[in-house]
Amino acid sequence: MCSLLSFLFLLLCVHALVIDADLNSDKQALLAFAAALHHGHRLNWEANTSVCSSWIGVKCTADQSHVLAVRLPAKGLFGSIATNTLGKLDSLQVLSLRSNLLIGNLPADISSLPSLRYLYLQQNKLTGNLPALFSSGLIVLDLSYNSFTGKISVGIQKLDRLSVLNMQKNSLIGPIPDLKLSKLKHLNLSYNNLDGSIPSSLQKFPTLSFTGNSLLCGPPLLQCSVVPSPSPIFPPVSNLSAFPPKHKHFAKKIGSWAVIATIAGGLAGFLMLIMLLLLCIFKKKGGKGGGASKEKSSYAGKNVKPKDESTSGVQGAEKNKLTFFEGFLDNFDLEDLLRASAEVLGKGSCGTSYKAVLEDGTMVVVKRLKEVISGKREFEQQMEIIGRLGKHPNVAALRAYYYSKDEKLVVSDFVPNGSFSALLHGNRGSGRTPLDWDTRVKISLEAAHGIKHIHSESNGKFVHGNIKSSNVLVGRNYEACVSDFGLSSLMNFPVTRSRIMVGYRAPEVVETRKFTQKSDVYSFGVMLLEMLTGKSPLQSARQDEILDLPRWVQSVVREEWTSEVFDAELMRFPNIEEEMVQMLQIAMSCVARNPDQRPNINEVINLIEEIRQSNSGNRSASEEKIEDRRQR
Ligand SMILES: *[C@@H]1O[C@H](CO)[C@@H](O)[C@H](O)[C@H]1NC(C)=O
Ligand SMILES: *[C@@H]1O[C@H](CO)[C@@H](O)[C@H](O)[C@H]1NC(C)=O
Ligand SMILES: *[C@@H]1O[C@H](CO)[C@@H](O)[C@H](O)[C@H]1NC(C)=O
Repeated sequence: MCSLLSFLFLLLCVHALVIDADLNSDKQALLAFAAALHHGHRLNWEANTSVCSSWIGVKCTADQSHVLAVRLPAKGLFGSIATNTLGKLDSLQVLSLRSNLLIGNLPADISSLPSLRYLYLQQNKLTGNLPALFSSGLIVLDLSYNSFTGKISVGIQKLDRLSVLNMQKNSLIGPIPDLKLSKLKHLNLSYNNLDGSIPSSLQKFPTLSFTGNSLLCGPPLLQCSVVPSPSPIFPPVSNLSAFPPKHKHFAKKIGSWAVIATIAGGLAGFLMLIMLLLLCIFKKKGGKGGGASKEKSSYAGKNVKPKDESTSGVQGAEKNKLTFFEGFLDNFDLEDLLRASAEVLGKGSCGTSYKAVLEDGTMVVVKRLKEVISGKREFEQQMEIIGRLGKHPNVAALRAYYYSKDEKLVVSDFVPNGSFSALLHGNRGSGRTPLDWDTRVKISLEAAHGIKHIHSESNGKFVHGNIKSSNVLVGRNYEACVSDFGLSSLMNFPVTRSRIMVGYRAPEVVETRKFTQKSDVYSFGVMLLEMLTGKSPLQSARQDEILDLPRWVQSVVREEWTSEVFDAELMRFPNIEEEMVQMLQIAMSCVARNPDQRPNINEVINLIEEIRQSNSGNRSASEEKIEDRRQR
């Protein structure tokens, strides 16, 4: 009797130990997953608390032996999903990480988790190919609104329990595999770059399951009678076929432009409307002035007291505080930013930028600064300068910033048209409206005015140090402003190692490691060449040789007739050749090797304005003549 009891007791103990071991391994996996991400302290996952009863977003099996579901939608998770973390949760059936800021690949160990039934990863910024393997028990697979590339993996063919498959708004290519999925009820492959004909097994789905794939044909879309044009989707800046394929760097550049352009292009229309609305609201609130003091104090109050005690009570109010620049309503706080849906806009030398849409619809750009070396005081002083200089129409204004030990953020307004770079190089080919000459000149001139403002403040002691076309933001009416001023001085990157500036960096900067106003003029000159030639600042020449744009232009001008230099897109606009040649001369003087031979930015502005004035008269006259002729 006694021995039976002790045997039973032992059995129980062993059972409990096994359970504990399993749960503990799940716990370690979850902790490793969380440790690889930034989550703004919104996960209360602590090693000393119970996974099953107190961790946010975690649900266990009935016997508390395994983790059954992890649901963390819109938790402001930044970063990539590490392999060997969630992929170890053997019993996981539901995984929802939708509407976060996840980047990088989807690890194969997650998609193939043996028990997985529901996988929700939509609205992130995941990249790379789809995993080849998916768990055969999947019922819902949602990967929409990410940046996946590559083909739809045939592994999906084996998911015979699959009911929902959403992959819209990615960059998937290739044909759609013949998916004979009898349980499939909902399918969305819209807005990818898929091609070929729709397999008969999927023709029962509506048009809206396939739209936005210009190379896709057959029912329910149009018949495949017209042979799809073999032109690449993003024809390169210049004749890419002329370059040996080993220039990966170059190809990558084009890729990222294409991404930016797609984002900019797709959103532009919708954003215009919202910006307009916001502008109205903003103006109205700002205009009330003193009369609105009551309203104002309530805005300020929001900052001091964290809204949601349950999520941020621990940290105290001060830590969560965004500092707003003068003239901007402090109508959101850090919590709002973290809660906002966001997408990656791009990665720059100073950090990654995200577009965040706040719950009230406000759109802002949040830049996470990386490798900030300056302390809080220095950071604040620099922000003060940036705030002051941002009060010029051609210098991008910052709205707010945030400084803590682990996180430095700057918040600025979202600019609807994207960057000059995206407008010049993005989405070349079918469907693109080329940027006309007048707009190119207008944007360049306004950027020059922005630089002039920076150069003239505080007795000329400021230098921008990172002038390039992707740092010139373009607004709704093609008004331009220079962004990114003053951030690089906070960072820890040596001038010579910063790859981003390659192509724009003046030759002397490499030696002296110092940016000057004249090196800004050099970079501006490269940007002028860029808009004149439509080419990227680095050009592949013969074989392995890579030329920067100034040297490329020199080599072409020396060997051939000057007009070979200009962007083919500009050739359709009449009577601008003379002006382009004059502009080319200005650009070449800016990129003189000797800094002393370069004009200063004031002189550059005067020169550009002169050629505008001297040419605009006879240009419009000859255009009228053409009109006349047409009417006759
Ligand atoms: C768990 O550990 C953290 C520090 O790691 C501590 O702040 C917290 O009070 C601990 N909680 C419990 C319930 O012991
Ligand atoms: C697929 O997604 C696109 C983009 O979100 C949407 O417009 C379309 O209506 C969806 N199609 C279906 C069948 O739900
Ligand atoms: C551009 O490519 C086309 C076709 O590949 C070729 O015929 C043409 O010579 C190339 N032009 C230049 C400037 O390399």
